[in-house]
Amino acid sequence: MRLASLGADVSFANIVVPTVDLVRLTSLADVLISQRRHVLFVGGAGTGKTAMVKEYLRNIEDNMMSATINMNYYTDSYSIQQQLEQPIDKRSGKTYGPPVAKKLIYFVDDLNMAQVETYGTQTPIELIRQHMDYSHWYDIGKLNLKTVIKCQYVSAMNPTAGSFLINPRLQRWFTAFGISAPNEASILTIFSTFLNGHFETYGFEKKITDLTEDIIKGTLAIHNAVAGTFRKVSERSVRAFWKTSILAMKCAKWLQTQWLHPLLS
Ligand SMILES: Nc1ncnc2c1ncn2[C@@H]1O[C@H](COP(=O)(O)OP(=O)(O)O)[C@@H](O)[C@H]1O
Ligand SMILES: [Mg+2]
Repeated sequence: MRLASLGADVSFANIVVPTVDLVRLTSLADVLISQRRHVLFVGGAGTGKTAMVKEYLRNIEDNMMSATINMNYYTDSYSIQQQLEQPIDKRSGKTYGPPVAKKLIYFVDDLNMAQVETYGTQTPIELIRQHMDYSHWYDIGKLNLKTVIKCQYVSAMNPTAGSFLINPRLQRWFTAFGISAPNEASILTIFSTFLNGHFETYGFEKKITDLTEDIIKGTLAIHNAVAGTFRKVSERSVRAFWKTSILAMKCAKWLQTQWLHPLLS
């Protein structure tokens, strides 16, 4: 797996560190996706589902293309149909699809977030189910049938948010993988990559660069102690601190203050 090189001009949002879990899941998904299977990643908030799929889609082969659709409470079948139709054109007669010689992957993020209406249906995912079941949907204006070919779905959902569950008639189409929160080794790998990259970029002295592991382990220990003592508010705070603060650190003094500041405030 490719790792974006770290440099002052690289946005942290675009860097995905290949942890053991991530490489394992990506290669399993790759086997399925290349066999035109639909894949679903299920896991809590902040487990890296979106980051992982986006990184995968950045590296797909030339004969494939992708379109990302982010679902939210207000997504309905009409709005999702408009998004699904954007990357496809007319092939022949009633048949629609991606450009010739390409296969299309729809990445539907937060699959279960759409509103559940009175009868327990989520209209946008019913449209996806119809597409998977019959390879078609209808033109809303002309009420013509449109056969939509050469598409497949990769999705992510958080089972502790939105509708919690999705229609089993949709779910049966997917090969589902559970993603758990990154373990300490993965977190250490992710943050060491960022911190070492930063130290290298700005030419920090060896006595500072040697501290990488201790700084991260120390921060994690404090985070765990705080998370275990106080009520849960945001598990992402440590990550947010690192991602915004590392870039600001230009010297040892900065390192010290940036590390102490969130701990003391
Ligand atoms: N392997 C990784 N390397 C670098 N950053 C990561 C990694 N996994 C997750 N992140 C970061 O953690 C944050 C949460 O990940 P995200 O993909 O949005 O989680 P989810 O979609 O499961 O809620 C993002 O800022 C993402 O960039
Ligand atoms: Mg996400």
